[in-house]
Amino acid sequence: MNRAPYEDAEFDKEIYQIFRDFFNLAEKKRRWSLEHDIPWDKCSKNLNPAIADLVESFCAVELFLPDYLSSMLPGLRSSRGAAWFMCNWGYEESKHSLALGDWLLKSGMRTDEQFDDVQRMCVQHEWKPPMDSPLGMACYTTAQELATAISYRRLAAHFTPQDDPCLHRLLELITIDERAHFGFYRKMVALHLRYDRRGTLEQLRRVLNN
Ligand SMILES: [Fe+2]
Ligand SMILES: [Fe+2]
Repeated sequence: MNRAPYEDAEFDKEIYQIFRDFFNLAEKKRRWSLEHDIPWDKCSKNLNPAIADLVESFCAVELFLPDYLSSMLPGLRSSRGAAWFMCNWGYEESKHSLALGDWLLKSGMRTDEQFDDVQRMCVQHEWKPPMDSPLGMACYTTAQELATAISYRRLAAHFTPQDDPCLHRLLELITIDERAHFGFYRKMVALHLRYDRRGTLEQLRRVLNN
């Protein structure tokens, strides 16, 4: 089957269902509050500065969120499931960048001025999507979300929960979100494979080889 999936009503209906399942599960099990679910009072001031450097670089990646949304949403706006997922995804990713930034400031690892510089640097250069189609981006984001989840989990493994209960909890919550994002995209890619196997395999090959 080789149709333009995003204009296919059946395809769109299936994406919408994947999105609703994702959304319902998130509402039931995964929602967390930046203010109430992170033990900010247990933020350590003595963690290895190398960990703060990593937190800053992860935060910088999350700070490109407006570019991610503005470049990916236009190609998906005709698909309710895909477009509305992106809106929900944006909300979740925005919490990641807020939480990481707050930790850098509350731990004293960065001053307000230093963190302002990071934010300024991130808006100077616009992020450009590495793939040229919604299908290519779905394949790319699948790999990216998995890599991100693994990176956050590995970062948390560099210290014990007692070293910094705050950062530990925060990374735990973010990792769970990233795993859920990966789960959504994995289902999307499986759906694409059913509608356009050859085209999807070609995009996967490009992503995984680069
Ligand atoms: Fe994230
Ligand atoms: Fe994510």
